[in-house]
Amino acid sequence: MEKAEVSFAGAKMHSRAPSHTADRRLYLLSRHLEPSLSAISAHDGNRNVSASPTSGFSDPGSVFSHVVQAPEDPILGVTVAYNKDPSPVKLNLGVGAYRTVEGKPLVLNVVRKAEHILVNDRSRVKEYLPITGLADFNKLSAKLILGADSPAIHENRVTTVQCLSGTGSLRVGAEFLSRHYHQQHAIYIPQPTWGNHPKVFTLAGLSVKAYRYYDPVTRGLDIQGLLEDLGSAPSGAIVLLHACAHNPTGVDPTATQWEQIRKLMRSRSLLPFFDSAYQGFASGSLDRDAHPVRSFVADGGECLVAQSYAKNMGLYGERVGALSIVCKNPEVASRVESQLKLVIRPMYSNPPIHGASIVATILKDRNMYEEWTDELKAMADRIITMRHQLFEALRARRTPGDWSHIIKQIGMFTFTGLNTKQVAFMTKEFHIYMTSDGRISMAGLSSKTVPHLADAIHAAVTRMV
Ligand SMILES: Cc1ncc(COP(=O)(O)O)c(C=O)c1O
Repeated sequence: MEKAEVSFAGAKMHSRAPSHTADRRLYLLSRHLEPSLSAISAHDGNRNVSASPTSGFSDPGSVFSHVVQAPEDPILGVTVAYNKDPSPVKLNLGVGAYRTVEGKPLVLNVVRKAEHILVNDRSRVKEYLPITGLADFNKLSAKLILGADSPAIHENRVTTVQCLSGTGSLRVGAEFLSRHYHQQHAIYIPQPTWGNHPKVFTLAGLSVKAYRYYDPVTRGLDIQGLLEDLGSAPSGAIVLLHACAHNPTGVDPTATQWEQIRKLMRSRSLLPFFDSAYQGFASGSLDRDAHPVRSFVADGGECLVAQSYAKNMGLYGERVGALSIVCKNPEVASRVESQLKLVIRPMYSNPPIHGASIVATILKDRNMYEEWTDELKAMADRIITMRHQLFEALRARRTPGDWSHIIKQIGMFTFTGLNTKQVAFMTKEFHIYMTSDGRISMAGLSSKTVPHLADAIHAAVTRMV
C-alpha cells in the first residue's frame, strides 16, 4: 500500500512543505485554514469573502467578522448533539468516559479519599509547581508504566515531565521531536487511530503518515500490512503505538505480534512513541497492560511514552498526565529534560497542582494503591460484562452477521463495523449517539440500555444495508 499522506481538515499536506520548523508550521496552519475559507465562498456564493481583518460581511463593527464557523470536534461534537436531544431514551456512546450502571459519571472512592487528605493538610499551599511538574508524581508515573524494577529508571536515564493529561503529553513530546529529532520529521500513525493524533502531530510540525493496522474483513489486526508498512518506512521514522486498548478499534497485537513489531522497529531504527491512555483498562491489570512498553524499554533502546490518568483514575477534567523519554544514558536524559522545559515554559509555564497531587497520594500509599487497582479492575470487568450482554442480546434477536468481535475486542470501545448511514439511522430513530465510524463506548452502556442498543443495531443492519 502507498503510505497515505494524511490529510488534515480536508487539506492534503503538500510534498514541498518548507523544511524550517517555524515556516513549516505557519505553512501547515495556512493550509489548514484554506479549505474553510473556500468552503464559505462556495456555500454563500460570496466571492468577496477574504481573510482580511477589515473585510467583515455580517458584523461590520468587528475585526473578527471574517472568522468562519469551525466544525464541531468529531468526538466531542457527539456530546453536543446528545445534549440537545430532548428524548428520554437517548444514549451517549460517543465519548470515552466511564459511566456507572445508572449511567452516571464516577468519581473513584480512592480519589475522594486522596482529596480529603489533601484538603485537610494545612501545610499544603498553592504555589507554582516547577516547569516539569510535581517531582513525586513524575517518579511514581515512570514507575507505574515502566515497572518498579525497570533498569532504565535505576540507571537514571528516564526523564519524566508532568503534562496536561494524555493530549498534552503527546503534544509536548511531538514539539520536542520536531525541534530536536533531526533523523526524521515523519511520524507513522495507525490507520485508523484516535482522531486527535493527526492534528496534534501536524501542528507540532511533524509530517504525518499512516501505517496499516485494522483489517475490516477480519475485524482484527492487519499484521502483514503493518509489518510491510513499517518495514518500508524510512530508517529513523517515529512510530506512534497505542500501548494497549487501541482506540477506536479495540484490537491489540498479541504478545507474539508485539515481539515481531519490536524486532522490526529496532532493526530499522524506528523510534517508538507510545500513547498509553488506557493502562489497566484493557485487562484490568496495570502490569499486563504495560507489557508492550516494558518490552521496548527492556531491549535497551530509546522511546517516548505519553501517559494519561483520565480513564484509569477517572481524572478526566483534572488533566493529569506525564511524558517520559527513555534515553541511552543519564547525560542525554538530563539534556533532554532541559530542552523539554524550553518547550513547556512558553506553552503553559507549568502544570496544575491538584490532579497530580491526587495521583501521587494514591500511588505512594500501598493501601490506597491497592484500593485503586480494585476499583480499576471493577471498571474493566463491568465493560467486559457489557460486551457479553450486547453480544447475547444480538444473538437472541438473530441479528444478521458475525458479532463475535464485540467480545474479542479490548478496552473501552467496540468498533462495531456499522457504516455511516447505519449510525445516522440509529441516531435519528433510536436517539443513540456515537462517532460516525461506528465506534461505541462500552463504558457508556448498562444492563438497562443494552436492549435498546441491540434493537437499534438490529434495525440498522436489517433496514439500512
Ligand atoms: C488513544 C488516546 N490517546 C490519548 C487520549 C487523550 O486523552 P486525555 O488528554 O483526556 O488524557 C485519548 C482520549 O480519548 C485516547 O483515546
